[in-house]
Amino acid sequence: MTNIPNTFGLNVRAKIFAEYHNVDELRELLDRYQGERILHIGAGSNLLFTNDFDGVILHSAMRRCRALQEDDDHVLIEAENGVVLDELIAQLCDMGLSGMENLSYIPGEVGASAVQNVGAYGVEAKDVITEVRVLRMADKQEVVMRAEDCQYGYRSSIFKGELRDKCIVTHVTYRLNKQLDPQLDYGNLRSEVGDNPTVMDIRNAVIRIRKQKLPEVSELGSAGSFFKNPIVPREQYEAIAAQYERVPHYEQDGGVKIPAAWLIEQCGWKGKTMGGAQCYPKQPLVLVNLGNATPEDIINLAAAICQSVQDKFNITISPEVNYI
Ligand code: EPU
Repeated sequence: MTNIPNTFGLNVRAKIFAEYHNVDELRELLDRYQGERILHIGAGSNLLFTNDFDGVILHSAMRRCRALQEDDDHVLIEAENGVVLDELIAQLCDMGLSGMENLSYIPGEVGASAVQNVGAYGVEAKDVITEVRVLRMADKQEVVMRAEDCQYGYRSSIFKGELRDKCIVTHVTYRLNKQLDPQLDYGNLRSEVGDNPTVMDIRNAVIRIRKQKLPEVSELGSAGSFFKNPIVPREQYEAIAAQYERVPHYEQDGGVKIPAAWLIEQCGWKGKTMGGAQCYPKQPLVLVNLGNATPEDIINLAAAICQSVQDKFNITISPEVNYI
């Protein structure tokens, strides 16, 4: 048994943990472990292992990037799945290329970010992804998918839906802008960056905001936001707004999005602990491992939070984190 890397810092193990350095090695691993339960992970920054894993964990050690194409306005960059997302973004910002600066400091790797459609401060991965290359597990052929065919939605994609466990994302192509088109409308980002920001100013502002609110996974285990923000029918939002002052909300997809952080705070969970798990005081959407949490501690805390939001508001909040 081998320890499984996971940003929650949970002590969980797998029968086999295997890394590959190119797509042929990945094919060999899939052949070798045919019939076993297989899970491909990135940095383990969005996973909750509920138990030891009785199977094979695959992880990519492919970490190259290359420019594919360039015109007057754009550069297409292809990154391999094992590239650390924030290292790529740091490099792109350093080169003055924009489009991904709002995604700065999100933990995780390129492959998982295209599966999860990570997002922050008004930008989602899907806004910059043009193509995703995958290895189809059934016949081990490489297939290139256009972003339009990846069914991207809020923290979701075809890779979490009908292609779940059917293919492995190996390469992601992003389209970056040579001219900065700042996306500063989310929260207090505009006031944090100041006037005439460079792409690096925006990156630095995003990092400052994230550091104020979100725990460093190297210091305190977590998987970032534990829940998704729910979208409720307008009438339901209005009923809540009639009862509470200044309910934060955003119009979305024909409904109203209410931050799960607000709902959880109203239920009194901010800073509460259950065993070794805590609802993070600075951002209650995040559950943290105080040091010796077991998977059950996190599962129990998450279930209790969901139940209270259901009881108080009649809103179902669902985990963003994948339970394994
Ligand atoms: N809020 C509270 N109490 C708190 C904190 C926040 O009521 O203690 C309310 C406030 O009204 C605040 C609102 O929640 O305005 C939104 O808070 P924030 O801007 O921190 O964003 P979020 O909706 O809680 C989402 C993403 C984050 C992303 C931020 C910024 C999800 C599930 N989470 O959080 O993503 O960084 O927006 O764009 O959509 C992640 O996915 O792991 C993640 C951290």
